Amino acid sequence: MNLNETLKIVPNPNCHKGCNQEKRDEIIENELCNDAVSVIDQLPIRCVGEWSIHKIYMLVQYFGIFSQGMKKKWNGKLNYIEICCGPGRCINRKIGEEFNGTALAIIEHSACHYLGKVLFFDSNEKVVTALNQRIELRGIRNARALLGDYYNDSDICMKIGQEVHPNGLNLVFIDPTDCSVPFQLVKSIKKKLSNTDLIINLASMTDFNRNVGNALLNPEKYSKLINKYNRFLDHAGFFNDIENLELAQQKNFLELRRKFRTTYTENLKRLGYQYFDFTSVNGFYDILFATGHEKGLEFWEKAQKIGYDGQRKLF
Ligand SMILES: C[S@@+](CC[C@H](N)C(=O)[O-])C[C@H]1O[C@@H](n2cnc3c(N)ncnc32)[C@H](O)[C@@H]1O
Repeated sequence: MNLNETLKIVPNPNCHKGCNQEKRDEIIENELCNDAVSVIDQLPIRCVGEWSIHKIYMLVQYFGIFSQGMKKKWNGKLNYIEICCGPGRCINRKIGEEFNGTALAIIEHSACHYLGKVLFFDSNEKVVTALNQRIELRGIRNARALLGDYYNDSDICMKIGQEVHPNGLNLVFIDPTDCSVPFQLVKSIKKKLSNTDLIINLASMTDFNRNVGNALLNPEKYSKLINKYNRFLDHAGFFNDIENLELAQQKNFLELRRKFRTTYTENLKRLGYQYFDFTSVNGFYDILFATGHEKGLEFWEKAQKIGYDGQRKLF
């Protein structure tokens, strides 16, 4: 894959480059830059760290293999759904280069026309409007962006039900910035669409790593945080577990993260998922892949073999 061409990487001279947190608080609103719009279409862009592009690359690699591999068997009933889709263009705040976010990377992919429906959800109206404009500018007919809040699983599932054939094969990507997506959303999607493979950005390298020690050691002070994680895990036992408290006292966050991920996959097993893989991206993302079919894992492993930097994965 030629990354520059695939993700349409171009310099944006209006980016201040290297904004510190104070400057970002001043000019960034809901992750969108108020000072720079895309030089390609003059629509909003999302300010991101340099590591974001790796995640997009990873998704695109898998999407290509998945849709090519499944298009005949699921003719017209292959769908892609993304929760937390963003506006479609991102900007690397360090070097001022803009590039396709996950949503545009998917709809500009040559395999996108094999799909029946491509649905994007985000809770930010400005994001949804920008992405719909980008979809329209490209004349893409099978894709649309919709307002959807991951705290409201019934609204998202009702909208999915209006668009997507219940007996299709679906790839659902959930890409939040922290561990606040309730597990109830995953449950409800799986109930609505039984053939669903999942890619979830678990944010356990950032949100969880930063906060788990405090939450375990000072549960009263951090009760809101614990409630968030309990909703995410659909499990209240993690923060009452004496072994986890001991791990926090020993500052063994690596083991705590492993147990957190295991708790999540155990929940997914109860929904019928059988095959899993975790890929860490640059120390920032913990990407979980889950499928009920061996073939899905085969595709995922094939997609992960060549890393972003052209290096083969070592583990
Ligand atoms: C990490 S960004 C998505 C980036 C995008 N997938 C990409 O790589 O181009 C997270 C997105 O989640 C959206 N978001 C935040 N809270 C949300 C909620 N409760 N429900 C749905 N979307 C939400 C934000 O507006 C933001 O666009």
